[in-house]
Amino acid sequence: PARLGCAGCHDLRCRGGACETPHDASTDPERRRARRLPSRRGVRLSGLRCDRTLAWATLQGHYAAHGRDLDLREAFARDPQRFEALSFEAPEVFVDLSKNLVDTATLQFLLELARECGVAERRDAMLRGDTINATEGRAVLHTALRAPPGSAPFSADVHGVLDAMLGWVDALHARIADGSSPIRHVVNIGIGGSDLGPQMVVGALEPYVDRGLDVRFVSNVDGHDLQAALRGMDARETLFVIASKTFTTQETMANAVAAKAWFDAGGGTDVAGHFVATTSNVEAAARFGITTTFGFWDWVGGRYSLWSAIGLPIALAIGSARFRELLAGAHAMDRHFTEAPADRNVPLLLGLLDVWYRNFHGFASRSVAPYHQGLARLPAFLQQLEMESNGKRVDASGAALPYETSPVVWGEPGTNAQHAYFQMLHQGTDVVPVEFILVKQPAPGVDGSTPLGAQLARQHRMLLSNGLAQAQALMLGKTAEQALEERAGTGGAAEAEQVLARHRTFPGNRPSSTFVLDALTPRALGALVALYEHRVFTSGAVWRINSFDQWGVELGKTLSAALLPAFEQRGGPLPAHLDPSTRGLLGRLLG
Ligand code: F6P
Repeated sequence: PARLGCAGCHDLRCRGGACETPHDASTDPERRRARRLPSRRGVRLSGLRCDRTLAWATLQGHYAAHGRDLDLREAFARDPQRFEALSFEAPEVFVDLSKNLVDTATLQFLLELARECGVAERRDAMLRGDTINATEGRAVLHTALRAPPGSAPFSADVHGVLDAMLGWVDALHARIADGSSPIRHVVNIGIGGSDLGPQMVVGALEPYVDRGLDVRFVSNVDGHDLQAALRGMDARETLFVIASKTFTTQETMANAVAAKAWFDAGGGTDVAGHFVATTSNVEAAARFGITTTFGFWDWVGGRYSLWSAIGLPIALAIGSARFRELLAGAHAMDRHFTEAPADRNVPLLLGLLDVWYRNFHGFASRSVAPYHQGLARLPAFLQQLEMESNGKRVDASGAALPYETSPVVWGEPGTNAQHAYFQMLHQGTDVVPVEFILVKQPAPGVDGSTPLGAQLARQHRMLLSNGLAQAQALMLGKTAEQALEERAGTGGAAEAEQVLARHRTFPGNRPSSTFVLDALTPRALGALVALYEHRVFTSGAVWRINSFDQWGVELGKTLSAALLPAFEQRGGPLPAHLDPSTRGLLGRLLG
């Protein structure tokens, strides 16, 4: 139920208690449907569809009157407190939103939108374990994976597997340390959520990796991926983690078969000691011949699974205590999302900012620029998290949406990105909000204790100054007058200088957010990832979509299975009923 509005008709336009007025929901079948709609599996969605709320109309007016023409330079000049008013503290992450095309009124209207759309009610339904992933008939409980014992649904199951898995990791580390285990390499074979999360985290926490183990990731069905990962390795020293929620994914199963063939060919004999599985399909893993399996549950979505047994390669890389710190950081962010007041609730505000940019400004993409090489895979991880979650075109009832949903999320680490696509961010025709992620302290070793450390510490200062400067440049821009002035006295012809100045002008007023972490610790990374998860949840809840299914990946899988026989039986007749392009290309590839 909406918090505001009439108890009789539930219409938000009626603020007068129970009523019998003609604006009753029965006059608007779509409104009535939106309010009462049970999901396919009987979950009742609270709140209204976003474009039917009062706040949406208010935001449209606000955009036309203030939002479209908001000038960041003027906004800062008008309000010396703008940075203080629009920067926020969440656990482990400081977020500056002041260089965004918002003012405090925008945020208030967006918060009203969240209230009318029932975001808090939907969040509570998720945390309770309601079946909010209605198209798959599943609860969504990745938050339970990082909750302390007894504080969330399925706690005994979660902590049973977690303790068993981390106990196993500790035992293996101990055997490696005392020389009784030959294992030196871990190869995680998985794809999508069974790869991107663990791979991103292991990369980010590289300074915490125990030196005894080298952890690699193979995902692509392209055999070159596995081949490159295994080059120079010894089967007797290698542990394979076959990571697949379903244990049916084509790429992972094919690579698991190839890994087994490589293991056999390399003289490996003890399959049980060299292959483990992380899956919710324990039976399929057993059929594959794997005896050590760490399980998880259907209520853990693939892209939300790094906190589950899918995190095994993380624990192998950084150790069990640090894996628990990662979980603790995420849990701290869960509590912030649940308990912080709406106007200081950072994931909520970020999700609403995404709605503001996507639906009111019409920005179709967002760029993520982590100024930390360890976070090189963060954009790829976020692409799955955000675009697989919110890349939907129908609402939870299956009705086509009249508004846009997921933006394209893309990015590369700074400063590399500056020498690639930042040109377009500064001077291109599209406005792309950018997210800068800055880490204050470098890792241990990047300090003044050695000449190399001192040089690397200087480079860290260069890194940070670059990140800050890019956000500054996007906002401030450069006028044609400034561009002319810079070249004053160079002796160029006046007309040519005018033309050049137009090329050297930056429009500025390009929005960005800046996240600051004190250090890239397991705890801070856990909090950062959970922040993104809840932000994606927020925009998905406003858009009234199911952020937890991914039917869009199915059609390609089916068509690929239908095409594969043509590649396997070369020379046979091409499949009938193919579209001319696919048929032509198939002929080319087979010819
Ligand atoms: O790409 C679709 C998808 O189902 C993702 O959601 C998932 O993360 C990935 O495939 C891998 O699935 P699994 O872990 O079942 O192998």
